[in-house]
This record gives sequence, C-alpha cells and structure tokens, in this order.
Amino acid sequence: MFDSLDLGLKGKVAIVAGGGAVGNGIGNGRAASILLADAGVNVLVVDKEEVLANKTVEMIEARGGTAISVGAELTKSSECEKVVNLAISKWGRLDILDNNVGIGSKLSVVDETEEHWDRVMDINLKPMFLMSKYAIPAMIDSGDGGSIVNISSISATRPKGLTVYSTSKGAVLSLSQAMAVDHGADGIRVNCILPGPVYTPMVYTPGMSDEHRSQRQNASLVQIEGEGWDIGKAVVYLSSNWARYVTGHLMVVDGGCSLSAKPRG
Ligand SMILES: NC(=O)c1ccc[n+]([C@@H]2O[C@H](COP(=O)([O-])OP(=O)(O)OC[C@H]3O[C@@H](n4cnc5c(N)ncnc54)[C@H](O)[C@@H]3O)[C@@H](O)[C@H]2O)c1
Repeated sequence: MFDSLDLGLKGKVAIVAGGGAVGNGIGNGRAASILLADAGVNVLVVDKEEVLANKTVEMIEARGGTAISVGAELTKSSECEKVVNLAISKWGRLDILDNNVGIGSKLSVVDETEEHWDRVMDINLKPMFLMSKYAIPAMIDSGDGGSIVNISSISATRPKGLTVYSTSKGAVLSLSQAMAVDHGADGIRVNCILPGPVYTPMVYTPGMSDEHRSQRQNASLVQIEGEGWDIGKAVVYLSSNWARYVTGHLMVVDGGCSLSAKPRG
C-alpha cells in the first residue's frame, strides 16, 4: 500500500559538490541544490568558484529555502574534510551528498594529452572519492543512514569521441556500486545518475551552434532537450524516502538518447 506523499526530506542536511553554475544558468548541481531546498533540506552548496555557489544560495533564499555556500577545491582531501565539518558545525548532521563535480573532454586517445588525461581523471573521480570518504562517517554518526548520488553520464556506456571523459564516467559506475555494497549495512544508499545531453552552462558557455543544439534535442526519443532540472529531480527522488529500497542503481536520465539511432552531437 502506498503510505505517504511525504518525501521525508524536511530538516535533512545535504552537501551538493559542484553546486554552482555560470551566471544565472541552471547546471545539474544548481538545480539539485534548489530542488532539495524546495523539499525542506538545508543545503551546503560547494564549488571551486565561490561566487557561483553564492549565486545558487541567492536563488534558494529567493524561494524561501535554507542554504549556505563555501568555496573549495574538491580534488584536495583537506578541503573535502573542511566542507563536511562545515555542514556538521552548521546543522549538526549530514544526510545527503550529491557528487556533481565534473569537466569534459573532446579528444580520442591518440590526440589526448597526458596532462589533460590526468586532469580529467583527477577532477571527475577524486572529489567523489574524497567527499564520500569524509561524508560517510558523518552520515553514520547522524544516526539515520544517508544517501549519496554520484553523477556519471551516458558517455560511460555509449562513448562518443570523449575518451577520457567517458573513461572517468565509466569508473563512476563502479565506484557507486562498490560504495553501495560496502556501506549498505550502515543504512547508506549509493546511486548513480547517467544524464544524457543536458543544456547547462558547462556545454553552452564554450559556444554551441543552433544546429548542434537541435541535433542533441532530436537524439531524444521524446524530442526533449534535457535541462538541469531533469537531473535535479532525479537527485531529489534518489535522496528521498521514496527511494529507500533503491541502492546501487544506475539511473539513465536521457530522454531515450541512448536507445536512439540518431546522433546526439
Ligand atoms: N551537461 C551535460 O550535458 C551533462 C551530461 C552528462 C553528465 N553531466 C555531468 O553533470 C555534472 C554537472 O555538469 P554541468 O553541466 O551542470 O556542469 P557545470 O560546469 O555547470 O557544473 C559543475 C560545477 O563543478 C564545479 N567544479 C569543477 N571542478 C571542481 C573542483 N575541482 N572542485 C569544486 N568544484 C568544481 C564547477 O565550477 C561548476 O560550477 C558533471 O559531472 C558532468 O560531467 C553533464
């Protein structure tokens, strides 16, 4: 029997790693931060660009939500520890972690440089490892289990000319399932979202032609252009009581792009 429409999120505490976005844009982490706050969660928005995290907090406060921001370079262990300690000192507990930090790549293995390979692998994986390393004990101490959502990409399973990016996002699938297995007994659920093409500042800031944009849209079986909100809503679901029986799940959120025969640009 369906027992309640309550998501069970009111009063919970979340960290969104990479919760900023350029300008007024809605990136995946900013959308998750705003929607978690709408659901009554206290949100610590973290970004290496503090000004971008501040903007997310401004947007949350304008909707009546509660959030604070901090600037942190999340490839560094000491910074991740500082972020988790900040959430605990501010709100006394930690329930949710959205690991959203990520950067792209464009080249094949032949054309990729070693330096860029190292940079993408470092940024796309280390913050997930380090934030989880400090967040999990804090969630256990909070006494009510916890939820971690790691953001991968459909490029993990359907790579298309983004070799190091796809490789790093593939590792996110394994990392998520390993964490789910290791910490399920602690009441910590770990899930992974594989977004398809989403129109966020990360993809449009470097410049995107109208043709490229409509190619991405047309690759969706339902002809919808993905937005940060689509990913944010999936984060809210996975973080909520509604997903209490869901862990180790790899959730594709892509409008069917990965089943489409059309190129996604
Ligand atoms: N946009 C898409 O089409 C798409 C598709 C699939 C997956 N994704 C994934 O979704 C996630 C978010 O993407 P987005 O498009 O919203 O990007 P975004 O660039 O708008 O947001 C990512 C944020 O992470 C921050 N960040 C980067 N490196 C950091 C670091 N070392 N420490 C702290 N913060 C750091 C950036 O400053 C940025 O504000 C990424 O992991 C990305 O790979 C995006």
